[in-house]
Amino acid sequence: MALRRESFLPFSRPVIGQEEINELIDSIHSGWLTTGPKTAKFEEHLSIYNNVPFVRVMNSATTAQEVSLQVMDLQPGDEVITSSLTWVSTLSTIILRGGIPVLVDIDPRTLNIDPEKIEAAITPRTKGIIPVHLTGLPCDMDSIWAIAERHQLWVIEDAAQAMGASYKGKKIGSDPRSVMSIFSFHPNKNMTTGEGGAIAFHNENYLNRITRLRFHGIEKDAWKRQSKEGNLHIDVVEPARKANFMDLQAALGLHQLPRLDQFNLRRGELFKRYLRLFQDVDECRLPWEGDETFGHCFHLFVFRILPEKARLSRDEFVQALKDRNIGSGIHYRPAHLHTFYQNYYQSHPHALPPQGLPHSEWSGDRLLSLPLWPGLTEEDQDLIVNIIKDILIAASKK
Ligand SMILES: Cc1ncc(COP(=O)(O)O)c(C=O)c1O
Repeated sequence: MALRRESFLPFSRPVIGQEEINELIDSIHSGWLTTGPKTAKFEEHLSIYNNVPFVRVMNSATTAQEVSLQVMDLQPGDEVITSSLTWVSTLSTIILRGGIPVLVDIDPRTLNIDPEKIEAAITPRTKGIIPVHLTGLPCDMDSIWAIAERHQLWVIEDAAQAMGASYKGKKIGSDPRSVMSIFSFHPNKNMTTGEGGAIAFHNENYLNRITRLRFHGIEKDAWKRQSKEGNLHIDVVEPARKANFMDLQAALGLHQLPRLDQFNLRRGELFKRYLRLFQDVDECRLPWEGDETFGHCFHLFVFRILPEKARLSRDEFVQALKDRNIGSGIHYRPAHLHTFYQNYYQSHPHALPPQGLPHSEWSGDRLLSLPLWPGLTEEDQDLIVNIIKDILIAASKK
């Protein structure tokens, strides 16, 4: 009988401790469930951890990204350069504000935007660049900042997957050459608040705007109006979404954040262990582990199956893993290949390079994320690797 796991193993699982649970119960008993003092404290702790003066949290990184583009005053027809190998929110938030996501191919070694291809995509309508630190591996930021400076563009980092990652020894988000950085606390991420996202930024002038854009356009600490020191007379200064962050979420975040470095250390050990265990498998392309400059936070272990060698397509491989009770993820199908974007780029052909995005498509066809989270046992990891080797041997005999 084929080697298989007894029960299904998901590709990711949050690690929630008793402290998070106790804090959550404390919030429930306190009667204060929504935005409040714990949210404010969480923002303070994030700002210290990421070494950035200002942080505002909200309901998701997607909203945070849309708010960031509103603050940058993105206008209809404005162009923003980014990569296609990302979650679609990187593109949709630009489109929702009337902008045009102009796509640049990735470097297949890192899966991140290839800086050498950025300048060819710049036009007089380009306003900014959104590098995506895919898998938790930082982009080549010095090259990106140099291009941005030369062409007077802003940089907003999509750091949804990069909590705890660093570039040249400094935490992602901490360098003021990026106007803002966006983080996600979705349950698959390296730390979670259930759902949630944050904008980290350096310019104090944005503080009130970001604060009000997440909550009805009300200035400053709207939540305090229900407390003794609060003022009942609120004032709306512009129309805005309701996308605030709850103290229930902050209760989790306050105890996830102090554990993040340890989580990431363990992720890194497991990531490097996968690399060792797969070193003799030549039907795949393994991810890069980063180095001192590119301080990986090991969010995903992206394995690329080579169908030309393995005699299995990626989708057949994913199904074979599933049949043996091993979950995996696809991060991501290149955004320009989704139905909406295929049509969109047909009517915006200048927003794709003339030669297309061959590296994004090559990797997009082959990639899958293997189980990786701090609680993954080495026993399970060995089993995953043995199952993969077994699937590859079976395919070679077809
Ligand atoms: C690269 C990237 N950007 C943005 C997001 C959006 O994050 P959220 O789910 O918090 O909106 C994700 C989430 O998976 C992501 O991976």
